[in-house]
Amino acid sequence: MWRRIGIVASSLAVSAALAQSAAPSAQRQAELESMLLQDCGSCHGLTLKGGLGPALRPQALAGKPRQWLIDTIRDGRPGTAMPPWGPILSDADIAWLADRLLRGAPGKEVKR
Ligand code: HEC
Repeated sequence: MWRRIGIVASSLAVSAALAQSAAPSAQRQAELESMLLQDCGSCHGLTLKGGLGPALRPQALAGKPRQWLIDTIRDGRPGTAMPPWGPILSDADIAWLADRLLRGAPGKEVKR
């Protein structure tokens, strides 16, 4: 009996871990794309060329480490207007946004 509960609990943990690391679905990607232009764009400019926040185009981000961008999006920058998005976005969503910014446009491959 207890053994069985243990097995169910561990398979739930595995599927939660898979859901976290899997790339967002096509529909989720479309939602993130519109969030990027509308919510992020409200500070970073509608075309991400910069506004209150700095430009987020690939040229502007060139040389900045992917993980550092992910940390910035997840945790924000305390003491600046950049808010933390970790409370409302999954790690997979945030990684997708960072890759999307480095790529510059939906659907292009990221060079790492
Ligand atoms: C309320 C305004 C605001 C919103 C909304 C906002 N940002 Fe920012 N963001 C900033 C500011 C200001 C900075 C610069 C912080 C600093 O001075 O270090 C920044 C910095 C960044 C950086 C680091 C860029 C660099 O070169 O230093 C990234 C990446 C970023 N934001 C992504 C995003 C994403 C993705 C979203 C939407 C999910 C978003 N931001 C929404 C204000 C905002």
